[in-house]
Amino acid sequence: MESNILMFVFHIFLFFQLRPSNAQDLIRAVYYDCSEQHNINVSEINSSLFTHLINGFAAVNSTTYQLSLLSSEKCFSIFTDTVKQKSPSVITLLSIGNRNGYHSTLVSMISNAFYRKSFIDSSIQIARLYGFQGLDFFWRYPTQTSEYSIPGENNFTGVNAALYDPAGVENTDYGIREWINAGLSANKLVLLLPFYGNEWTLLNSKDNSIGAPAAGLANTTGNEFLTYKEIKDEIERRGPNVQVIYNETYVTNYFTIGTSWINFDDVEAIRAKVSYAKKKGLLGYVAWEVSFDDNWVLSEAAASKKLCFTHCNL
Ligand SMILES: *[C@@H]1O[C@H](CO)[C@@H](O)[C@H](O)[C@H]1NC(C)=O
Ligand SMILES: *[C@@H]1O[C@H](CO)[C@@H](O)[C@H](O)[C@H]1NC(C)=O
Ligand SMILES: *[C@@H]1O[C@H](CO)[C@@H](O)[C@H](O)[C@H]1NC(C)=O
Ligand SMILES: *[C@@H]1O[C@H](CO)[C@@H](O)[C@H](O)[C@H]1NC(C)=O
Ligand SMILES: *[C@@H]1O[C@H](CO)[C@@H](O)[C@H](O)[C@H]1NC(C)=O
Ligand SMILES: *[C@@H]1O[C@H](CO)[C@@H](O)[C@H](O)[C@H]1NC(C)=O
Repeated sequence: MESNILMFVFHIFLFFQLRPSNAQDLIRAVYYDCSEQHNINVSEINSSLFTHLINGFAAVNSTTYQLSLLSSEKCFSIFTDTVKQKSPSVITLLSIGNRNGYHSTLVSMISNAFYRKSFIDSSIQIARLYGFQGLDFFWRYPTQTSEYSIPGENNFTGVNAALYDPAGVENTDYGIREWINAGLSANKLVLLLPFYGNEWTLLNSKDNSIGAPAAGLANTTGNEFLTYKEIKDEIERRGPNVQVIYNETYVTNYFTIGTSWINFDDVEAIRAKVSYAKKKGLLGYVAWEVSFDDNWVLSEAAASKKLCFTHCNL
């Protein structure tokens, strides 16, 4: 919860200077992670669906505090030129952070003026060298945790990225309202859209609602999370018996296969979240991660001008 709120802050300042020229338009950002195994190639990204592409993740060296691209230099170096071939107006940002064990390095870097200078100078230099138009600081603070409800840690099915939760505070709307109440302008906030879900093992396959008793992480894939593409492939493989439910109270989708309970954001949830961002006057959204999408379905739903405000029947 806390970590999500802080993540918003870092995105805020970086996006501030990079508003779309038409004030009516939302920023439509997405991450591309050069280190992901299942990535689509940079050349396959449909840049026209986004205003900003955020390329991660550069590292901070723990002795010099300079930015380093480690083994992914090739991927970073071709990124901006490649994505601009499809959409010359798309803005690219170089993202720093999101690595295990980085917390202590980043804490010492921000606590010391010399380390900060080393970090700042080298970040600007590398970003300019490879044509990035801005920087994104991806620092989940104080922990690496990013989900509201995690199969390995809870004994009841919960929502990965609930927009609302009538029973508690682990939801995006609560976090956004807290920021706004604390004095932050709504138009400095971007909403994170997850292009992934997670999977739980139910204790009883018939008791399969949100909040049903569960025994943690499910075993179908062995992954803690599933990409939207993996989820759609699984639905297709299982055939018409799979019924995907949209729950408007939480703004999320889920389905059950035997004792597996899979929770994710489908088109309805994504549309409802983007219309929420518009209604609240937020700066826009940022999706994680572009290669998790299935044939651009979620990216197109988010970018669509035709958003629903209450019922999201397709
Ligand atoms: C990406 O490009 C490389 C080199 O052109 C190719 O070998 C690889 O199969 C491509 N990967 C995907 C997922 O298309
Ligand atoms: C990219 O997105 C645009 C806008 O939705 C769409 O017209 C186009 O077909 C997409 N391209 C690919 C290769 O999917
Ligand atoms: C950090 O920088 C030092 C000095 O340039 C270098 O020896 C070391 O290999 C770097 N560490 C990593 C993880 O790249
Ligand atoms: C979940 O249930 C298991 C088995 O009953 C128990 O060991 C564990 O402590 C529970 N975890 C939580 C977070 O309640
Ligand atoms: C969403 O799920 C909760 C928990 O099961 C339930 O109480 C609520 O009625 C559901 N909302 C809708 C619109 O079905
Ligand atoms: C996980 O999957 C394996 C192989 O399908 C199976 O043998 C095992 O019982 C499963 N474990 C749980 C906890 O479901």
